[in-house]
Amino acid sequence: MLKIDVVRSVAALRAVVRPQKREGKRIGLVPTMGALHQGHLELVKTARRMSDFVVATIFVNPLQFNASADLAAYPRDEATDLNLLAATGADLVFVPSVGEMYPKGFATQVRVTGLTDHLDGPARPGHFEGVATVVTKLFTQAEPDLACFGEKDFQQLQVIRRMTRDLDLPIEIVGVPTVREPDGLAMSSRNRNLSEAERKIAARLPEILGRAIAQLAAGAPAAPILDAARAALLAAGFDRVDYVELCDRDTLHPLAAARPGSRLFAAAHLGRTRLIDNWPVLP
Ligand code: PAF
Repeated sequence: MLKIDVVRSVAALRAVVRPQKREGKRIGLVPTMGALHQGHLELVKTARRMSDFVVATIFVNPLQFNASADLAAYPRDEATDLNLLAATGADLVFVPSVGEMYPKGFATQVRVTGLTDHLDGPARPGHFEGVATVVTKLFTQAEPDLACFGEKDFQQLQVIRRMTRDLDLPIEIVGVPTVREPDGLAMSSRNRNLSEAERKIAARLPEILGRAIAQLAAGAPAAPILDAARAALLAAGFDRVDYVELCDRDTLHPLAAARPGSRLFAAAHLGRTRLIDNWPVLP
């Protein structure tokens, strides 16, 4: 077991971070929900490179789960996570309880409009309000100079960028490229819930999106290509497709054909696991 400092209250977090800030150190924040994989560790490594004191957080945020079964099934393994964070170079881990984050009577929500009109906005009602609210709290609690988020959750990254800008929070938001398994599947904590058979089907997601991207990048109309990708996912064994959409990377609004800055987004269900992915189509 490697040694790493762990704090569980906002007061204890501030008591460690504020003296570091007073010494002029740049604070890097890596918010996570635990069940860490290589993708998270890349966030920690990026924060390590760009700052002097790295705070990671582990909090499975109930506010961002719209289905209680999804919250209950979310994998948790604090001891392994703390070891991985220590080995990767985090300086401090903040692991608050639900009561610490949302004391009795908690009644405030942060909502970002526009960017949440499509994709996971309608597919997961309340999800981005939960994310924006908890990330705002983590920002005001840890007072970081920069914070790292994965591009795998690209819509989340854009929502956090906008919220940070709109609320004048003096924090640099750093997007970190998606880390993939050798067969192309984007790393996700949820992958560990896949059965062996589902894991094989899951690898078809990047493959099917890759085919669609080649056609979209050539300038063909999007609608038939997106329909074919949805049908291919169902034929491959996915149980339900929430969306396969071509969107502008800045507005996250759907496009009828690819243009510079367009990105392909998908979300599909395999048994009780929901997988998402996204790729650039044209730079
Ligand atoms: O991406 C995640 O793991 C979560 O949405 C985040 C940013 C830690 C907020 O709970």
